Amino acid sequence: MSSTIPVFRGKNPLLPGAEFLRDPFRFSIGRAREVGDFFRIPFIPKNLPAGRQVYFTTNIEVIKHVLQGNQKNYVKSVAYRYLKMALGNGLVTSEGEHWRRNRRLIQPAFYKTQLEGLYNVMAGIAERYSQGLLKKIGEGAVVEITEELMSVTADIALKTLFSADNPADISEMYRIMVEAQEYIVQRTVKPYLTPLAFVNGRHRRFRRDMDWFDGHIFNLINERRKNPQPVNDLLSMLLHARYEDTGEPMDDRQVRDEAVTLFAAGHETSSNALAWTLYLLAQHPEILKKLRKEVDETLGGKTPAFSDLRKLGYTMQVIQEGMRLYPPAFAIGREPLADDEILGVKIPKGSVMFLSICGLHRDPKYWERPDEFYPSHFLPENEKKRPKMAYAPFGAGPRMCIGNHFALMEMQLLLATLVCRVDLELATSEQVAPQPLITLKPKNGIKLRLRPRKVFPPV
Ligand code: HEM
Repeated sequence: MSSTIPVFRGKNPLLPGAEFLRDPFRFSIGRAREVGDFFRIPFIPKNLPAGRQVYFTTNIEVIKHVLQGNQKNYVKSVAYRYLKMALGNGLVTSEGEHWRRNRRLIQPAFYKTQLEGLYNVMAGIAERYSQGLLKKIGEGAVVEITEELMSVTADIALKTLFSADNPADISEMYRIMVEAQEYIVQRTVKPYLTPLAFVNGRHRRFRRDMDWFDGHIFNLINERRKNPQPVNDLLSMLLHARYEDTGEPMDDRQVRDEAVTLFAAGHETSSNALAWTLYLLAQHPEILKKLRKEVDETLGGKTPAFSDLRKLGYTMQVIQEGMRLYPPAFAIGREPLADDEILGVKIPKGSVMFLSICGLHRDPKYWERPDEFYPSHFLPENEKKRPKMAYAPFGAGPRMCIGNHFALMEMQLLLATLVCRVDLELATSEQVAPQPLITLKPKNGIKLRLRPRKVFPPV
């Protein structure tokens, strides 16, 4: 027998979805709690064909069903299709057999044991970056920390992917990706402005930029194919990997799509997660003090080596807690290919399943202090007390983030390197509001006043 599901009516009965659409993050951690953990929102956004239903959930069983139990019946939602304009048919945007073959091919490069070589590249960048930052801030300066971190994570992504070392190419690739993402976000959230982009040259600029970008990557691929010595980067791994079934390598187009996907998926998420964590630390001096104690005692002022990471347990708890409160992938969208039934509720084919990860992360059923910054949530004894799925910043099931270990080690490295070298305080009294676009960004950035640390640990 099928059950009925609560329907969210909202303040304005004519536009019941307006509250949700205006700010899905705030909605998830506020209003939604009053309604329940699985309900329907009766609205039809402009970019969805009429008649679609939106199902909002923070319920673990529903999330498990969609991402694991019956994942074969679910494809990524409409927003991902726009991403194909820049990413092509790589891991993030592809589906079915095409996705499965490539995931199997690429996965081994991201095993923890494979990441040490890439870590050493990251550590060099972190060291140079922190030296440059200390010079830049002099005796103290206000910086927009999201932009700062975005440029260092983009540098890490470009060097670990392509061993790119020409600063002009790096900054051009970075510019193109940032602008392409802005354009795609605009097409996703304001589809009615698309005709304007074709008239005012915005679309032409996007195409021209992408042609330059692709040409550049195809050149890199050609050079590598001519000189088949393995290089310590992900591009080399993509070129040397062979499909299980045919023994053949990927063709150039697929290598391009996967490389651009790894770049795009990999740097903004990590930089946003770190920016939010620093924002939280700036407001919690006692947690910052404990974090520094661990970093100072473990590293004595040095940049962490790969083998140091496992000793930085509290640093990891702080990062996990930052991503609990502000998960960069704040929601995951899926659409059923065929009618389904979840917890007795009939879900028609083509509905939108909005899996609210940020809502799940603040569910009082699983978290002792749902809205507080409390890294002890991640003490091993506390982790044992809650279901594994209560924390899903990297998603779950077969499509779980391939770069999770890469991201965690990058964040541990950057956080440890920064907190042992600089003092930080919030440089704005304005409330920092999250802006939920593709990832959860701080709306007008986060301004921090950074100063070289006064009590620097002995090296
Ligand atoms: C804090 C950092 C990161 C977060 C929070 C994050 C989060 C996620 C999430 C939630 C998904 C699943 C999306 C879905 O199921 O719809 C995902 C997928 C993916 N991520 Fe990440 N990610 C991060 C860093 C990275 C990095 C560093 C890389 C690569 C170097 C990466 C590459 C990917 C790829 C390729 C996919 C698609 C996997 C597939 O469908 O097979 N991510 N990520």
